[in-house]
Amino acid sequence: MKTLLLNDFTEIELQMLELATTVRENAYAPYSHFRVGAAVLGIDGEIYTGCNVESADFTLTSHAECVAIDSMVKHGCHEIKLLLIVLESLHAPSFPCGLCRQKTSEFTDNNDLKIISVNLDSESKISKIYETSLNELLPNRFTSENFLNL
Ligand code: THU
Ligand code: ZN
Repeated sequence: MKTLLLNDFTEIELQMLELATTVRENAYAPYSHFRVGAAVLGIDGEIYTGCNVESADFTLTSHAECVAIDSMVKHGCHEIKLLLIVLESLHAPSFPCGLCRQKTSEFTDNNDLKIISVNLDSESKISKIYETSLNELLPNRFTSENFLNL
């Protein structure tokens, strides 16, 4: 894991940040009040976005990353090139949760897949930007190779 500055961002990463920041505004989080925005760059060059969507039953919550990935799949793309999320972090660095790590893992063969986490302060200003990788967040990941005789 390393920290980044906005100056380090490529053009596509800047676009992803803008889209993830915008979609985060649409997060439906009346229970946690914790809004997350995600942008996934597909191998097709398109950017797919998602926000979290909560539910009164507390179990049906959709995570922003999963919504973005489902959108990618809906458009016929099955490979992630880059994942960027935008979320608040007041006490500790924030990264995609375990579920979202596994879901991301489904759509890449690349252990070094880049994951950028843009952490915001309580006023939604960028406080820290982290770059990490799938392998760092989910080492020894479980894949279909663990149970299929391919
Ligand atoms: N959340 C995400 O959208 N992605 C994550 O990886 C972490 C958690 C959402 C789910 C819930 O709506 C809120 O953040 C608090 O857990
Ligand atoms: Zn998650």
